[in-house]
Amino acid sequence: MAPLRLGILGSGRGSNFLAISKHIQEADLNAEIAIVLSDKPSVMLEKAHELGLKNEFVDPKRFASRERFDEALVSRLLAAKVDLVVLAGYMRIVSDIFINAFPRHILNIHPSLLPLFKGLHPQQQALDAGVKESGCSVHWVTSELDSGPIVLQKSVPVLPDDTEQSLSARILVEEHTLYSQAISLIAKEMESR
Ligand code: GAR
Repeated sequence: MAPLRLGILGSGRGSNFLAISKHIQEADLNAEIAIVLSDKPSVMLEKAHELGLKNEFVDPKRFASRERFDEALVSRLLAAKVDLVVLAGYMRIVSDIFINAFPRHILNIHPSLLPLFKGLHPQQQALDAGVKESGCSVHWVTSELDSGPIVLQKSVPVLPDDTEQSLSARILVEEHTLYSQAISLIAKEMESR
């Protein structure tokens, strides 16, 4: 089975990207990272560079609109012949141009048990709501924010003395395995089609 070609988009730290890359290197995940793109000159791109992966900072300020910016991303992902687009800490809302270019082929990871706590600061939202468990969700990206069909979820406890930071860290540990599991599941599904 040919490895699934991933196009990874992120905006910052890139720990999910690095976890995926590690699972590929350890042969836990039959995929290859075809390109890494960021809307910020991020740590993620530095890591991608160190790993010898094709990477690029695409500056949104160079484009007249969100749609023109998304077209630029799409053209790079298509040129890299990606099978699956993986949003990993990508903090921008993607336009329909982007979504329609890869129908049901864009994944996102979100640090809550969706459909709870969509949008920004989901870990703080969980603390404010007083829930006893939260977690992370890998889901397909649709035009409605954080609302597409869920692929996999993993829960973690919320502890009485948690802060946004401590809860985020507990969830992030689970994100680092969940995302690769979800990609693996999808790779198998795509292969059997
Ligand atoms: C992760 O916790 C991810 O779930 C979250 O941003 C963090 C990125 O970390 N994504 C969102 O909140 C998207 N709505 P990373 O850059 O270290 O992977």
